[in-house]
Amino acid sequence: MNKGLFITFEGADGCGKTTQIRMLKDYLENAGYEVVLTREPGAKGLGEKVREILLNYDGIVSDRCESFLFLADRAQNIDTIVVPAIKEGKIVLCDRHIDSTVAYQGYGRGLDLERINMLNRLATDGKMPDLTLVFDIDVETSMQRVGKNKDRMESAGIEFHNKVRNGYLEIAKLNPERVKVINGSESIEKVFENVKNLINKTLHI
Ligand code: TYD
Repeated sequence: MNKGLFITFEGADGCGKTTQIRMLKDYLENAGYEVVLTREPGAKGLGEKVREILLNYDGIVSDRCESFLFLADRAQNIDTIVVPAIKEGKIVLCDRHIDSTVAYQGYGRGLDLERINMLNRLATDGKMPDLTLVFDIDVETSMQRVGKNKDRMESAGIEFHNKVRNGYLEIAKLNPERVKVINGSESIEKVFENVKNLINKTLHI
């Protein structure tokens, strides 16, 4: 049986990671791997309800409350989807994970990074991704791609999104083994070439 693998996809809103994750799923399945696709917030069931609050609730949400909701969803995703699939030897592709909380609530909202790292460890029970791909694009392009129908997070403003982008680049600098940055402003095909190269190195294929 294959050894399970946990790969996370990160980056600004509109960076193209969701398209890439789907292409990678097809590519890996064609190569004979069993793949599970999940996302944060809200993969399924209870998580979807938490997602609904996080993205659409229009009342006051304090920054700490927002963090705990993302973390609660993460614990559910790890316990009910990620870890069981890895134990079965599957490759888990996760659309956003721990680094989103560091980038958005830490660098973006300005919450203490040490505390967020500690809370992330609690939410994941210490399970870390084997590889994390960060799709980097400038904020102007990212907001253009998102368009006019912005959700609660996407409406947080240019300054916030600049901080998030710089946060991701900082995370990559601090974790060079795990986190790889891919230029997300190139064509879908070129970005996917870069994704495949990094995945093939990790899988040794
Ligand atoms: P989503 O529609 O999934 O965005 P995308 O398609 O860009 O992944 O919305 C998730 C939003 O929640 C996105 O704006 C990032 C934000 N987020 C956080 O702020 N902290 C977190 O821990 C996570 C997982 C997401």
